[in-house]
Amino acid sequence: MDAIKHALSLGSQNAPREPTTEEVSDLKGQYTLAGQSHVFTFYDSLPIAEKAALFKQLSAFDPIYINKIAVKAISPPNADDGGAKETVLEPLPESVTASILDDSQSADVKKWRSSGLDLIAENKVAVVLMAGGQGTRLGSSAPKGCYDIGLPSQKSLFQIQAERIRKIEKLASAKANTGVKVTVPWYIMTSGPTRGPTEGFFQKHSYFGLAPENVIFFEQGVLPCISNDAKILLEGKGKVAVAPDGNGGIYNALVGSKVLDDMKVRGIEHIHAYCVDNCLVKVADPAFIGFAASREADIATKVVRKRNATESVGLILLKNGRPDVVEYSEIDKATAEELDPKQDPKQEDVLRFRAANIVNHYYSFRFLESIPQWAKDLPHHVARKKIPHINLKSGEIVKPEKPNGIKLEQFVFDVFPMLELSQFACMEVDRKDEFSPLKNARGAGEDDPDTSKRDIMGQGKRWAIKAGATVVSEEPESGIEISPLMSYGGEGLEELSGKTITAPAVIEVE
Ligand code: UD1
Repeated sequence: MDAIKHALSLGSQNAPREPTTEEVSDLKGQYTLAGQSHVFTFYDSLPIAEKAALFKQLSAFDPIYINKIAVKAISPPNADDGGAKETVLEPLPESVTASILDDSQSADVKKWRSSGLDLIAENKVAVVLMAGGQGTRLGSSAPKGCYDIGLPSQKSLFQIQAERIRKIEKLASAKANTGVKVTVPWYIMTSGPTRGPTEGFFQKHSYFGLAPENVIFFEQGVLPCISNDAKILLEGKGKVAVAPDGNGGIYNALVGSKVLDDMKVRGIEHIHAYCVDNCLVKVADPAFIGFAASREADIATKVVRKRNATESVGLILLKNGRPDVVEYSEIDKATAEELDPKQDPKQEDVLRFRAANIVNHYYSFRFLESIPQWAKDLPHHVARKKIPHINLKSGEIVKPEKPNGIKLEQFVFDVFPMLELSQFACMEVDRKDEFSPLKNARGAGEDDPDTSKRDIMGQGKRWAIKAGATVVSEEPESGIEISPLMSYGGEGLEELSGKTITAPAVIEVE
């Protein structure tokens, strides 16, 4: 009997057992107290396996907590004070910003790059990739990182990023010349829907030449999807509709999945975190690491100039005196369109709020160690979505045509206002070299696979010309794909000098 009990134990890999009447009544009690008992509507009619699965899923949530965060997200505290406390938005002050576009700072940039490479060579740098999003706007069910943007090499976003890591390890190792093996561990945050396919993709491609022990997958949490009146939605009779808890879920996940412990063992002090969808991302960028470390920042961030007042990007700024991000959906038109009063009247219009967030963040390890002290204070935001769910009366699946419910999400940048300005730093970088996100399906003409491909190949062409090559092509738009294993940021291309290259072309290492 004991053996059978063991084999049927709840939550084990083996066949599940039916939860006992007491267990169900206990859990039901909690959901009833929270006004969410409807999640048990079909429970009694379910087969044992589904009963066990629903029981397990519901046990993982605290319904009172879900109610609390839902109410707070739907009516945030400052919304009901009648706007008594006016929000003051200002651009970040110059004291915390630097720009690699500013020629007068080029000596500093060189210094930062050099010290960043040293830190990488000392094995003190790690990268964290946020790849838990579902890419609904892209219209692909596979994780975004697996996407082939149409480069001649057919490399996926994951492969491009992996090769940049391999290259920066090599550059750092060559500079230090100590013979010590240089490793930049890559921590990849996935979510329920992206974990399996992401890990499978890496296995299939032999981790793109990286050592598997240095590619560490971890999973962010999920939260129940709720209706507009904060009732938990069921996706099926025995399943709660859930969604990843937003890219701000990274903080709880770093602690819960023991990533921080692993970093500590490895002696990591500086972390570069970024989004999967930017094909130009300079993974573990030494200039950025060196910049942030030289300022002893706890968080630093990269920005590019906002393309125009309507671009769908967040803005990095000061909100009531603290560093913060205001999302495109949260800023009013007049503020978004305001021009910089300090601009040179002869120049093109420059927006006052132009520091576009490209989700490239630096963290000091000491700061990440403080997550348990503040993670519970991170707010949740409302994302109104079309959420398929079951009609509790008819038991039928409803596939809504317009948003019918809410996904609760945390944002990675909501931690910024917890910092004093002196702990924060911001680096402006060149959009054409560092930011080309993949957001939309092919054909959108903006931030889609074609623009990603164009921007990588345009960059390769610029690098080749700078290295002394002549590029000829029938189409002026044709570019050159240069493998990240050849060059991380345009360096090391001396052998192209004097050559004529017919674009489109791809340059790989031999
Ligand atoms: C994000 C930024 C926005 C910025 C823009 C630039 C946030 C909240 N917003 O907006 O300020 O200007 O990128 O491209 O950061 N992700 C997860 N788990 C989730 C949800 C998302 O890991 O639960 C990851 C995605 O895989 C992606 C990244 O977070 O790598 C950004 O997600 P996305 O939803 O595309 O953000 P945007 O709305 O474009």
